[in-house]
Amino acid sequence: MKPLVVFYSRTGTTKKVGEALVDLLQCDNEELIDTKKRTGPLGFLQSGRDAARNRLTVLEPLIHDPALYDVVALGTPVWNGLMSSPMRTYITNNKAKFNRVAFFCTQGGNENKKLFSDMQALVSPL
Ligand SMILES: Cc1cc2nc3c(=O)[nH]c(=O)nc-3n(C[C@H](O)[C@H](O)[C@H](O)COP(=O)(O)O)c2cc1C
Repeated sequence: MKPLVVFYSRTGTTKKVGEALVDLLQCDNEELIDTKKRTGPLGFLQSGRDAARNRLTVLEPLIHDPALYDVVALGTPVWNGLMSSPMRTYITNNKAKFNRVAFFCTQGGNENKKLFSDMQALVSPL
């Protein structure tokens, strides 16, 4: 089985988890880079707003084609109980190329009732 680990990380936590997975699986990884500035208090506020409104963003060009992998593990920080906008963008733009998917997330609290079901719904074809 050939996996690809794809993650977005604003402050490095999800990146640490993603890199640990890559070490474990000895596989390729794709770090999503957002063209929108998300640092500082304003970046924090905008990120929360973007997530709550299901907004998409513009990502830097990707390195890997997810169609070439058996499973794509998608990792995101939780923003307002939802996936981050960069991850929403990646899934929206690439879901037709996914074979199988897995999800992981990091968060500050311990409530994310809807996150994985939202990601699953977004991945699923209409
Ligand atoms: C805009 C924003 C909204 C957040 N909302 C939540 C939330 O609803 N629940 C939660 O547990 N953590 C929330 N967090 C905390 C992040 O999910 C947590 O710090 C995460 O590990 C950050 O990952 P990163 O370092 O990879 O960006 C939020 C963080 C940001 C920036």
